[in-house]
Amino acid sequence: MTNQRHANMQGGSHLEYTFTDREFQMIAELAKQHYGLHLQPSKKPLVYSRLTKRLRALDLRDFESYCTVLLQPQGQEEKTHLLSALTTNVTHFFRERHHFSYLREKLMPGLIAKAKAGSAVRIWSSACSAGQEAFSIAAMVLDACPEATRLNIKILATDVDAQMIQNARRGQYDSDQSEAIPDEYKALMLQDNATGFQMKPELQALVTFGELNLIKDWPMRRLFDVIFCRNAAIYFDKPTQSHLWQRFADVLQNDGHLMIGHSERLAGPAEAMFRNVGITTYQRIPRNGDKILP
Ligand SMILES: C[S@@+](CC[C@H](N)C(=O)[O-])C[C@H]1O[C@@H](n2cnc3c(N)ncnc32)[C@H](O)[C@@H]1O
Repeated sequence: MTNQRHANMQGGSHLEYTFTDREFQMIAELAKQHYGLHLQPSKKPLVYSRLTKRLRALDLRDFESYCTVLLQPQGQEEKTHLLSALTTNVTHFFRERHHFSYLREKLMPGLIAKAKAGSAVRIWSSACSAGQEAFSIAAMVLDACPEATRLNIKILATDVDAQMIQNARRGQYDSDQSEAIPDEYKALMLQDNATGFQMKPELQALVTFGELNLIKDWPMRRLFDVIFCRNAAIYFDKPTQSHLWQRFADVLQNDGHLMIGHSERLAGPAEAMFRNVGITTYQRIPRNGDKILP
């Protein structure tokens, strides 16, 4: 333990490291600027407890030194650790089951018919963590259409966290994760491997993984039929969320759908661009008087 840390603990302070309001403010500004994260002053104890492991890993004596590391030109890697420490990647297969029921019953017949008629179908899992959401969507597609890999159906799955995207590309999960998969999809999705299970190649063929920060530029040019953005916008402040919903409206087909997380709500100008069609499920209202598809 460094002398300074030792002194903090000996001197009656409960904290192992000093953490001033100024240092908190600097970290909050950086997290906002790079990732859209909204850290109110009341989050200071949480930020402290989440980041102490980074100070230990880097063998730093205080938060001032940590701020210096973050601000260095080569501090990009540490910024990704900051993001991981301040957000959660927790997810599971078929999370918030109602969206998958809606997808299977209301959307999949139309999407498969569209693909069979020769059109492109595009689905975006936009904060996909380690990929369970995207593979659950792929299972719905394959269940509805076993020859889906030969049609023009693609699922784009993105997250800002490069480590999560690496994991997702492997498509390997611990065996306890299979518990969340409904029995009727297990044979379609899983093949065993030594340590757990592996997503079947047909599922992997439908999904393309990539890194993407939701608050920065999006390189995609095609409109999407369905967008999942669940349990990520919760980290953003209201204006950032509002802007994000508008951007989703811009990249959705007229009859396209947006699924958001259980504690998220559409607000701001985007409210006039969507109609609520189910639990945290929204349909794009047509632009320029185009007809909405049934
Ligand atoms: C709790 S997980 C949600 C996973 C999945 N969508 C679900 O609902 O189960 C939140 C994810 O949002 C990602 N995230 C946070 N800020 C982001 C940003 N600015 N751009 C893209 N992804 C972000 C995190 O890396 C994390 O993987």
